[in-house]
Amino acid sequence: MFETNKKVQVFDDEFGNLRTLNFSEIPFSVKRLYWISCVPRYAVRGRHAHKTLEQFFIMLSGSVNLVLKNHKFETTLKLTVDSPIIVLMSGVWRELSEFSSNAVLMVGASEEYDESDYIRDWDEYVNWLEKQ
Ligand code: TYD
Repeated sequence: MFETNKKVQVFDDEFGNLRTLNFSEIPFSVKRLYWISCVPRYAVRGRHAHKTLEQFFIMLSGSVNLVLKNHKFETTLKLTVDSPIIVLMSGVWRELSEFSSNAVLMVGASEEYDESDYIRDWDEYVNWLEKQ
């Protein structure tokens, strides 16, 4: 469902923070990066699954709650800049909430944007899962 066994490299000192990600750490070829910011406290983002897309999540600033679930399992992760890289396999429902005011979430994806890869309805998602 997801992996948390990789971390960015950290070079923090009295002159600031420098963090690096080698794409060789990511178990898929990265075709797209996007980042989410300026999210109001009341907003819930995500609420969908992807049929084939694999992704990774890295907080560049602030914090967010990430719920990962399917019809049998659910977990909530609080992501901060010190969290491991979250590598998310396809077929997992995700919900993002409680973005801190300074939250910047970077997402890497295995494919370019394709709306037909999204399942945005929970019941449709459960039906889809049962056919896998
Ligand atoms: P969406 O993936 O639903 O965002 P979130 O899961 O954070 O709520 O995308 C929001 C909108 O942005 C939707 O209209 C699709 C569009 N979008 C693109 O056009 N290209 C992209 O690479 C992404 C990630 C989203």
